[in-house]
Amino acid sequence: MFYILLVLGLVVLAYIFRQVVVIGKSCKSNAKLHGKTVIVTGSNTGIGKTTAIELAKRGARVILACRSKQRGEAALQDVKRESGSNQVVFMQLDLASFKSVRSFAENFLKTEPRLDILINNAGLHIFDRTEDGFGMTFGVNHLGHFLLTNLLLDRLKECGPSRVLNVSSTMHNVGSIDFDCLNTHKDLRKGTSILDGIRIYSDSKLCNVLFTHELAKRLKGTKVTCYSIHPGGVKTELARNTDAASQMILSNLGIFFMKTPLQGSQTTLHCALQEGIEHLSGRYFSNCTVRNVFAKARDDAASKKLWEISERFCGI
Ligand SMILES: NC(=O)c1ccc[n+]([C@@H]2O[C@H](COP(=O)([O-])OP(=O)(O)OC[C@H]3O[C@@H](n4cnc5c(N)ncnc54)[C@H](OP(=O)(O)O)[C@@H]3O)[C@@H](O)[C@H]2O)c1
Repeated sequence: MFYILLVLGLVVLAYIFRQVVVIGKSCKSNAKLHGKTVIVTGSNTGIGKTTAIELAKRGARVILACRSKQRGEAALQDVKRESGSNQVVFMQLDLASFKSVRSFAENFLKTEPRLDILINNAGLHIFDRTEDGFGMTFGVNHLGHFLLTNLLLDRLKECGPSRVLNVSSTMHNVGSIDFDCLNTHKDLRKGTSILDGIRIYSDSKLCNVLFTHELAKRLKGTKVTCYSIHPGGVKTELARNTDAASQMILSNLGIFFMKTPLQGSQTTLHCALQEGIEHLSGRYFSNCTVRNVFAKARDDAASKKLWEISERFCGI
C-alpha cells in the first residue's frame, strides 16, 4: 500500500512539475487579426510554424519567410490546412545573405501594402560563414534580422500600432559581446569546440535582447513597439546541427522536460496579441510575463555600439 501511494504521489508531482514548470502559461488574448499582416521568419518548422498557424487562425495574413523553397512551400500547405485560412503566403528569405534579405524586403514592400507584426523567429547554431563572410550564428540570429527590420521599419511605422518581436533565449544570460572580435573576425568568438558553439549561440541571443533594447529607444514617439522573447525549452529541430549524443539526450528527455512547439509559441503569441503591453516596449518576456534582465542585457552603451557596428556591417 505504501509503495502504491508513493508511486501515485510521484506521478502527481511529475504532472504538476510538467504543467507548472515546463509548460507554464498560455497566451490569453482573444484578439483577432483580420486585415493585419504578419511576417514570421523561419516558419517552415518548429516554433515559427506553430506561431504562423495560430496567427492565421486569428485572421492575419501571414507571410512565411523561409530560406528553402521546398520546405517553405510544404509548410505553406500545412499552415493553410491546419489554420483553415488561405491568407498565407510563402516568400523566400535567406537571413545568411544580405542580397536575399534586401530582395525579400523589396518584394514584400512592392506586393504587400501592410505590415503589422514582424516576428524575427528564425535561429540556428552552427559553425559556418554567411554569404557575406560573417559567422553564421551571428549572421542569421542577429545581423540578417537587424537588416530586415531596418528595411521594413517605415512600413511598420505607417501601419502603427505595430510590433517587432525578436525571439531570443534565456541563454542570453550567459552571453557576452566582444566588439574587438566582431571587428577583426566578423564573428562573436573564435573557437570551434562544442562549448564555443553554445557560447556563440548565447552571445547571438544577447544581441537579440540588446537590439530590442536599442530599437525601443529609437522607436520612441512612433506607434511601433518591440519585445524580446524566451520561448522556453521546446522540442524542435534546433539541435539538428549538434552531435548525435546531444540529439539523443534531447529527444528522450525532451518528451518530459520540453514544451511542444504549440506550447513554445505562447510567449510569442502573447507579445504579438496582448493589448496594453505597449509601455513595456524594449523589454524581455518569458512564460507570457515580462522579466527583468541582467544589467548587461540592458546596457545602453553596448546596445548603441551593437547597433552602430551592425549598421556598418549591413551597409545601411
Ligand atoms: N527550441 C528551443 O528550445 C528554443 C529555446 C530558446 C530559444 N529558441 C529560439 O526560437 C527560435 C525558433 O527556433 P526553433 O526551436 O523553432 O528551431 P527550428 O525548429 O530549428 O526552426 C528554426 C527555423 O529557422 C530557420 N532558419 C535557419 N537559418 C535560416 C536562414 N539562414 N534564413 C531563414 N531561416 C533560417 C529554419 O529553416 P530551415 O528549416 O530551412 O533550416 C527553421 O525554419 C530560434 O530563434 C531559437 O533560437 C528556441
